Amino acid sequence: MRKPLIAGNWKMFKSLDEVGTFADDFIPGVSDIKDTDILICPPYVYIQALAQACEGSPVMVGAQNVFWEDQGAYTAEISAPMLKSIGADYAILGHSERRQFFSETDETVNKRLFASLKADLVPIVCVGETLGQRESGKTFEVIGSQIRQGLKGLSTEMSATLVIAYEPVWAIGTGKTATPEIAQEVHAYIRKVITDLFGSQIAQGMRILYGGSVKGENIDALMAKDDIDGALVGGASLEAASFERILRFKG
Ligand code: PGA
Repeated sequence: MRKPLIAGNWKMFKSLDEVGTFADDFIPGVSDIKDTDILICPPYVYIQALAQACEGSPVMVGAQNVFWEDQGAYTAEISAPMLKSIGADYAILGHSERRQFFSETDETVNKRLFASLKADLVPIVCVGETLGQRESGKTFEVIGSQIRQGLKGLSTEMSATLVIAYEPVWAIGTGKTATPEIAQEVHAYIRKVITDLFGSQIAQGMRILYGGSVKGENIDALMAKDDIDGALVGGASLEAASFERILRFKG
């Protein structure tokens, strides 16, 4: 069985003081949660402090990106071994905001994927179609291509820890969630692509998260679907009570 993973993506929000307040409010309240993996991906600069605050709790910490070289003259970049050394266990790769605003492509996602795995960071590879692509009937084509290109060269063995996040671009930060039926249809398709690439054992074990305006009001219906194994949560992960509600989904 797949253990659900609920991941918070804090994007570029919070001051250091606010991170401390969140940790004080949030961590004691979720320490009894054992059957769902809990992850928070804050801005790079707070990873170490948050990881220290989460020590001994079930809450894990991850990064929102990684650079693909381990070290070198790459001003302002942050490598996977650096992130691992300050307490990160996961890395979000290819988020649509990176693709849209920072020229991220499937090729760069692929390089970051190998760097993450080498440093023992669990990659969360994000895929998703735009509204225009959905309306022109290209959803499966786009998602299939993002997965095949993004995971190119990955061996079956290396794919074992990988997490995929389906985030329809039209649902991110817009308040428009994909219906559970729409999400399930794409998740089932993603699992089929993974089956083609790595076989059914890997595909059946792989966690596929949904992301895009997830909140307390819609998480239960989403998690009730067979192929939805968790969520990547933006806005609703910024406040302790609303994130905890999502973690306590029923479904
Ligand atoms: P949202 O963001 O929950 O605020 O829509 C999700 C994401 O971008 O990961």
